[in-house]
Amino acid sequence: MEKKNNWIKIANKPGEIIFPENNIAKITVKEKAICVIQKDGGLKACVSKCPHAGGDLSDGYLDKRNHIVCPVHCYRFNLDSGRDNNGEGYFLKIFPIKIEKDGIFVALE
Ligand code: FES
Repeated sequence: MEKKNNWIKIANKPGEIIFPENNIAKITVKEKAICVIQKDGGLKACVSKCPHAGGDLSDGYLDKRNHIVCPVHCYRFNLDSGRDNNGEGYFLKIFPIKIEKDGIFVALE
């Protein structure tokens, strides 16, 4: 994959990312599994491994309040802050993602 500053190109255009029915695509970037989430016409990105006990968030779902819900114990994580909805102090790593004329980029650092 092409690198542009600390942004890493993950696709040439939005249609290149195949989203399953739950709108959460799992892709590997620099050997790291991440989720790319299609939501409200935009994209979000986060690590795919749940910070609670390692569930695969790409098998989860999105709720109406901008949360990704883990399929294992149903913890909910805010896709802007990464904060868990239970107030237990778990944080999901959120990655900046942007769509530009020449592609879609994610920043892992
Ligand atoms: S592993 Fe995700 S909520 Fe427990």
